[in-house]
Amino acid sequence: MANNEELFKKIISHAKEYGFVFPSSELYDGLSAVYDYGPFGVELKNNIREYWWKSMVQYHENIVGLDAAIFMHPTVWKASGHVDAFSDPMIDNRDSKKRYRADVLIEDHIQKTEDKISKEVEKARGRFGETFDEKMYRETNPRVKEYQDKINAVKNRFYPALERNDLADVKLLIEELGIVCPVSGTKNWTEVRQFNLMFSTQMGSVNEDANEIYLRPETAQGIFVNFLNVQKTARMKIPFGIAQTGKAFRNEIVARQFLFRMREFEQMEMQFFVRPGEEMKWYEYWKEERMKWHLSLGIPASKYRFHDHDKLAHYANAAADIEFEFPIGFKEIEGIHSRTDFDLSAHQKFSGRKIQYFDTEQNEGYVPYVVETSIGLDRTFLAVLSHAYREEKLEDGSDRVVLGIPAKLAPIRVAVLPLVKKDGLPEKAREIMDKLMYDHRCFYEEKDTIGRRYRRMDALGTPYCITIDHQTLQDNTVTIRDRDTMLQERITMDEVSAVVTKKIRG
Ligand code: GAP
Repeated sequence: MANNEELFKKIISHAKEYGFVFPSSELYDGLSAVYDYGPFGVELKNNIREYWWKSMVQYHENIVGLDAAIFMHPTVWKASGHVDAFSDPMIDNRDSKKRYRADVLIEDHIQKTEDKISKEVEKARGRFGETFDEKMYRETNPRVKEYQDKINAVKNRFYPALERNDLADVKLLIEELGIVCPVSGTKNWTEVRQFNLMFSTQMGSVNEDANEIYLRPETAQGIFVNFLNVQKTARMKIPFGIAQTGKAFRNEIVARQFLFRMREFEQMEMQFFVRPGEEMKWYEYWKEERMKWHLSLGIPASKYRFHDHDKLAHYANAAADIEFEFPIGFKEIEGIHSRTDFDLSAHQKFSGRKIQYFDTEQNEGYVPYVVETSIGLDRTFLAVLSHAYREEKLEDGSDRVVLGIPAKLAPIRVAVLPLVKKDGLPEKAREIMDKLMYDHRCFYEEKDTIGRRYRRMDALGTPYCITIDHQTLQDNTVTIRDRDTMLQERITMDEVSAVVTKKIRG
């Protein structure tokens, strides 16, 4: 298998070649960090969204859905803090002319030192075997302690500097740590500047009544401003959640990582409203629940980890990321945030309207606290795709590329393939299509040799291929081929629906 950077490139080109993801406006040389989903990509994306929606809304009696508009009153973003605080510190390298997030440069530097600690720990584990006491080793080994002291020193300087918005000190720190531009290899840095990430546009005619509005940078605010509407109409009692999926827009500074960092992307968010003082209990609960959801996608636990935040966003009193091991390394795929009553209180203040919940059990009214789960749909798509991508050498010496996408998420669940285009086989195949297409996304294909058709279905991640051959005409049986094992079994045409459904449900 290729190294990670090469692997990432292969996944991107596979996604394009097989109709999963295209660069936006490719005809005009594309638009940076914006992508279009092709015929098979849109199916996979819809399936992931639906799987999330069912897990959150359908399987939780106390969570309801919402679809708020992208455009919102401009004061929403003043109240939420986005106008003043939704910015990233950026720095340019004068030699390469590349722009970076200053915080990411420093966090990557910290990560490298953390990786060195992990290596020392793993070496020691190998040496000491079962008697190894990791906690004690981390606390006493001089080299590990030295690394840890360095990390602490950077964090103790960096986070307060960001807090104070002392960008000159952030630049000094980058210089002192000897961080170089990965492209030019030099330390010829500009000053650090804050860069607001919101896109703005005008509502109404530009000349009359021009009013600047923003494209929402998160879906969450649509939920907050509808809190009372939803709570009253759906008769919800605390604790309860409101879930929503939809587009969000951010003018990302560094956007060269395919679906990982886009300027237009989709979020799947859920705000869970709780009694003040109970938020940490629910924060822990949702951290665990959301990790279980990721593992239910069939991706091994070793590909995920939690990252607890040291520096908290302006609205949070606790926050953690679920990170996934993408080909570009462990990176955030989902955030779980305890947002206190920050948003509802701010909207109460800015709108001048009361936003309170009357708790009949406690006989008192209050502004609820919020625990949020916020996952990127495009990043989940990238996680599923990159984990699924495999290159295999087969026993006969040939190669195949296969996407081992879990059957429940696969863009096409069943391919229906008549062995040849004649002798009545296509008619039999159509009978099978009629049986399956109302329950599963199917694909009918009669062109090319059967071997080639199987390869194409492997590359699209189709878990099952049903082949209609001459024996079908004699005994009404067909073969069903498993993508991963490539084994085929014969079943009767009457059984097809039940067998496919059973296999997909697992
Ligand atoms: N409402 C909270 C919120 O928006 P966030 O951590 O900024 O929190 C949540 O974003 C999730 O949205 C991230 O974990 C990530 O999966 C996704 N996301 C954020 N920015 C993104 C981008 N530029 N491109 C793709 N996905 C992004």
